[in-house]
Amino acid sequence: MSPKARPDEAGLERSLRPRRLSEYIGQERVKDSLDIFIRATKGRGEPLDHVLLYGPPGLGKTTLATIIAVEMGVSIRITSGPAIERQGDLVSILTNLKAGDVLFIDEIHRLNRVVEEVLYSAMEDYAVDIILGKGPSARTMRINLPPFTLVGATTRLALLSGPLRDRFGAVLRLDFYDLDAMEEIVRRSAAVLGVPMSSEGALAVARRSRGTPRVANRLLKRVRDFAEVRGAGSITPVLATEALEMLEIDPLGLDDIDRRILRSIVDKFGGGPVGIETLSAAISEETDTIMDVYEPYLIQLGFLQRTARGRVATRGAYEHLGIVPPGLAGQASLFDAV
Ligand SMILES: Nc1ncnc2c1ncn2[C@@H]1O[C@H](COP(=O)(O)OP(=O)(O)O)[C@@H](O)[C@H]1O
Ligand SMILES: [Mg+2]
Repeated sequence: MSPKARPDEAGLERSLRPRRLSEYIGQERVKDSLDIFIRATKGRGEPLDHVLLYGPPGLGKTTLATIIAVEMGVSIRITSGPAIERQGDLVSILTNLKAGDVLFIDEIHRLNRVVEEVLYSAMEDYAVDIILGKGPSARTMRINLPPFTLVGATTRLALLSGPLRDRFGAVLRLDFYDLDAMEEIVRRSAAVLGVPMSSEGALAVARRSRGTPRVANRLLKRVRDFAEVRGAGSITPVLATEALEMLEIDPLGLDDIDRRILRSIVDKFGGGPVGIETLSAAISEETDTIMDVYEPYLIQLGFLQRTARGRVATRGAYEHLGIVPPGLAGQASLFDAV
């Protein structure tokens, strides 16, 4: 149940994606800033200043980028950091933009440094300098660009270079959604997909969606399949819970890999601290996946801590796994009574 997008889900994502800011549920702080930002800029008839969106996968960064373009009434060009390999690739994208257009660069922390440098002058002066020829006869030529808005998205703000980050007029952080917002998202998606669902059914799915709309949409689809096979008319909490248990998603929305991370820290490394590389080897998952996809939610739940010496499982993690924390064996009940 990784919140990372899967290629086979592109169609589903498009159909469920809110088009306007007013349809975008939750993230009130981000929505309010964007709303003011967009209105003020439109009032002045200027292109929107560059926007950086950051947060764990599946929370709505790509969705917001498309909403920004719709609200500004401009076109959007979508690409990603790893897709832009050479300076020339970026220059050709930039020169093909129309005035006011949005250029969305996903995973912007993965741009290579040479390409990134082109972006600096493009963002600041709407111009790029290209070098013509080689050796002593080489000269630079300045190409002016149409004014445009760069929307960057990243799961790892810390990996972005200072100079790049400083060139964004707005840096907005997306957080995990609270239960109310998640419930509304599940209900909205169910309505779009035409899935009959009771409000308690929506709540049951929302609870296990780890505060992440992409996960909610995916669970909803699986629960719908389950309901169809069972011949049930509408999705009830019992049916939703049964379907999710079959997928080995526990009541907090943790899946097998989440539990393996916690179990490994607890069983193999005495609760930690354990370095991320060691942990990654122990459970055969890539460090990037652990850091981008799994850790943020485990930290949010208070089950995991990142310390200078490595990852540590908290008391909450032990309790969730049904294991007595070390040093408390035999006196757990006493501890609980305090
Ligand atoms: N605020 C929201 N309200 C309703 N649905 C949302 C919201 N944010 C995201 N979604 C849904 O979640 C899916 C994933 O969002 P996306 O923007 O692709 O996430 P990210 O780019 O951050 O990984 C989208 O298909 C969209 O349907
Ligand atoms: Mg995205």
